[in-house]
Amino acid sequence: MSNRKWNIGIAILFIVFSSLLLSFFLSTLRIKDLLQPILSSEVSQKPPYHIVLISQEIDNPYWRSIERGAKDAAFEFGMELEYTGPFRINPAEQMKLLEKAIAAKADALLVQGLSDPQYIDLINKAISYGIPVLTIDTDAPSSRRLSYVGTNNFDAGKVMGELVAEAAGNHGQIAALIGNEQAPNQQLRLAGFREVISRYPELNLVEVRSSNISRLQASGETEELLQHYPQLNVMVGLSALDAIGIAEAAERIRPKGLQIFAFDALDETLELIRSGIIHSTIVQQPYDMGNEAVSQLNDYLHGKELPVQHYTKISVQGQKPFVQENGETSP
Ligand code: BGC
Repeated sequence: MSNRKWNIGIAILFIVFSSLLLSFFLSTLRIKDLLQPILSSEVSQKPPYHIVLISQEIDNPYWRSIERGAKDAAFEFGMELEYTGPFRINPAEQMKLLEKAIAAKADALLVQGLSDPQYIDLINKAISYGIPVLTIDTDAPSSRRLSYVGTNNFDAGKVMGELVAEAAGNHGQIAALIGNEQAPNQQLRLAGFREVISRYPELNLVEVRSSNISRLQASGETEELLQHYPQLNVMVGLSALDAIGIAEAAERIRPKGLQIFAFDALDETLELIRSGIIHSTIVQQPYDMGNEAVSQLNDYLHGKELPVQHYTKISVQGQKPFVQENGETSP
């Protein structure tokens, strides 16, 4: 082959090779362009803010309302809300769930306040790990929780006292059921109630028992109380299911002239008010508690200072309807 032919061959090869190299280079640039948005969204897409709400009892209708309020607010703020709690009231399990949520590095916690020092330590531990904690429904003011969202329970107990005194005509025998011996909200309600009742010398609180937030137990305790105190003219339930249990027992035993007072506005309670079996109920706002607690967390994340307590409203619903509200926010 002549030199000229060789040169032409080499030139053709060079052109083919160069155009292949160029097209390879151009496709690499194009692939890079196509991948860019995917790569950058992967880097910037943070997982949603994960809040854990621990209830006193998972399927209790009152706590389900708190859950609904919290979930609605979480949806509004693009957060994720995990709702959990013991199957049956069990403070030790509540504590374990709190421990678990801290270990799983939840972004924030909404918990019922309990007075157990170990539980208070756990709230403080979460805070020291940088996990914001708010108490809901029941406060734990001795802990380092950021804020409390719920009823002013002492005042609610006082409202119940006034209601009972008025309906009983300032005299008679009263028995009360509380949800749980250790729950600080129940003790506060009872203290407020006692404070008012002690002003009436002819009104006597003869016994207080625990329902363990079970309507069945409330009904059983009521049966015993009615047998023990045949003169009883008032029974008060200081947690959501108590008066429903009291009413069940009263329907069986049919004591004369017994007036029943309730807490909360579960459908059954309202039905028993309509049918004249329950006299009145103190209505808390569990939906608002859940909603407000998540909205406060959102404020906190945006650098706002939270109030130490945010009291949700209460009102009275019953035979003689009147509304008394005490919703307020204290700094
Ligand atoms: C109380 C809650 C309790 C619920 C039980 C409510 O009145 O505020 O603390 O868990 O009753 O049914």
